Amino acid sequence: MTANEPKPKRTTPSLLRKAGTARRLARSGTGERAAGGAQCRYVAVIMDGNGRWARRRHLPVAAGHRAGAKALRRLIEHALDCDIAEITVYSFSSENWRRPAAEVEDLMELFVEQIESEVPEVQGRGVRVRFVGRRSGVSAALLARIDAAEAANPDDPRMTMYIAFNYGGRDEIVDAARALLSTVAGRAGGAAVGGPPFAIDELVTEDALRGCLYAPEMHDPELLIRTSGEERISNFLLWQLAYTELYFSAKLWPDFGPGDLDDALSAYAARARRFGGR
Ligand code: IPE
Ligand code: IPE
Ligand code: MG
Repeated sequence: MTANEPKPKRTTPSLLRKAGTARRLARSGTGERAAGGAQCRYVAVIMDGNGRWARRRHLPVAAGHRAGAKALRRLIEHALDCDIAEITVYSFSSENWRRPAAEVEDLMELFVEQIESEVPEVQGRGVRVRFVGRRSGVSAALLARIDAAEAANPDDPRMTMYIAFNYGGRDEIVDAARALLSTVAGRAGGAAVGGPPFAIDELVTEDALRGCLYAPEMHDPELLIRTSGEERISNFLLWQLAYTELYFSAKLWPDFGPGDLDDALSAYAARARRFGGR
């Protein structure tokens, strides 16, 4: 939460979990409460602050990333309890390659470990795992593990966790534009040799571009949480965050616990979303 944001009225998580209560909250008061109901189902998280957490303890930065991985595991359990349907977590940005080689190496090692140990566990708890991001630049060994992990997803998931890895919001839009333009170019070529004419306005639409994103089925997050006190997007989900509610927590990511998620969900429930209307 931002320092200058008034603390929202606390709604207990058990209250939030009850869909009936959520609907009543939506109907009461201004009628403009969050997203047609108090309950937030689609959450995105910028898990920031691992480095500072480690530095404050005079630990190597890798220890901060390990503590961050534990915090994520905790959060997933609580998200399941809170009936979150989709959670998208920023685990490694397209810009994070700029970090010292030793830190990048440690992070890649940690991802392999997490994919081998934690991912099967969360899948066992009913979580579908999808990786979003560019494949280029990622080692073949890690890509093979990513593919194997996605192939082991539960058939009837309770929640989807999107892991943004080697992810950049601008990359995603560029990649979507490339994919879309290749279909448009195909149609243009067809028209040039006597095929049916095509209208670019009909082919290049918001829906068509969305359909070319890394995970077109992903819902736009209703709430974005960023920890560590930084208040920026850092190239995360640029397309999807167009109307997302933003929530900034001063906690460093490894310290962010279930109660902090409850606070964020309560803050969301108190927001008025208008989407440009009244
Ligand atoms: C987020 O924590 C983890 C990654 C970016 C991989 P940081 O490592 O950015 O933590 P700070 O911002 O240096 O404290
Ligand atoms: C964003 O955090 C990326 C992840 C949390 C994975 P950064 O620490 O990389 O962002 P900046 O550099 O502070 O904007
Ligand atoms: Mg950071």
